[in-house]
Amino acid sequence: MIVCQCNILSDREIEAAVERLLRDDPWQLIVPSKVYHAMGIRGRCCGCFGDVIAIIGRMTAELGPERDGEKSGDRRDSWRN
Ligand code: FES
Repeated sequence: MIVCQCNILSDREIEAAVERLLRDDPWQLIVPSKVYHAMGIRGRCCGCFGDVIAIIGRMTAELGPERDGEKSGDRRDSWRN
């Protein structure tokens, strides 16, 4: 599915770029402009950025750093102790 009409980018191309960024550094903050810069392009109208943010969020949840504490609630408990 085409996500960015200005650059004719599909969701799969964006997912692949986000995956490469996460493999380089799973803790980095990824924003649409960083994804597009990594692909050698840039936003024009930026109307697609909402959809790109959704892709980044989904990919980060799947491939980002483990957050065992958040999943089990341990992290919050350990901050209180
Ligand atoms: S639709 Fe992506 S920059 Fe315009």
